Amino acid sequence: MPVADRLEVILDSETIARRVAELAESIAAAGLDNLVVIPILKGSFIFAADLIRALHTAALKPEVDFIFLSSYGTGTESSGRIAVLRDIETEVAGRNLLLVDDILESGRTLAYAKDLMMARRAARVATCVLLEKRVRRAVSIEADFRGFLCPDEFVVGYGMDLAHRYRELPFVGRLMRD
Ligand code: IMP
Ligand code: MG
Repeated sequence: MPVADRLEVILDSETIARRVAELAESIAAAGLDNLVVIPILKGSFIFAADLIRALHTAALKPEVDFIFLSSYGTGTESSGRIAVLRDIETEVAGRNLLLVDDILESGRTLAYAKDLMMARRAARVATCVLLEKRVRRAVSIEADFRGFLCPDEFVVGYGMDLAHRYRELPFVGRLMRD
């Protein structure tokens, strides 16, 4: 069955691009000098790539490093355990950081990454997520910058996957169950 038959587009690429430009303007206005942008891989990689270029348009000159965290395995439910699969190389003490993730859901991933960077004595750790699901929060954390609220459904595309599929889609889609 073609992929398109099983997906409903909830955010098209133009809508995403407009919001990414707005987010970059908000981030540029936040006074985060000497900034290191840290995408949380893998799900954020397309969002982060667009956001980082939008930050350039917004006249920022951030450094960029990557952290690779895992919480999900290959299913649609979070395991609740976070593992660092690949750490950043940057010395973050005294730096302003922007953690970038695809979805804020339970909050465990973002809280874990934020706590890790605070423990390394970063000056300020700001957070930016493309999507926020409000209902399944297990840890009290709010993103400083958020693209869109997301329904409590499993979404894919624009970097987000189900078992490593669908990341290539240029839109965010809701996965229809068979
Ligand atoms: P949290 O730790 O529960 O906040 O989960 C956040 C992580 O779970 C995100 O970085 C995503 O990679 C993943 N995730 C949560 N919901 C979805 C979804 O609907 N589609 C794809 N990945 C998701
Ligand atoms: Mg993720």
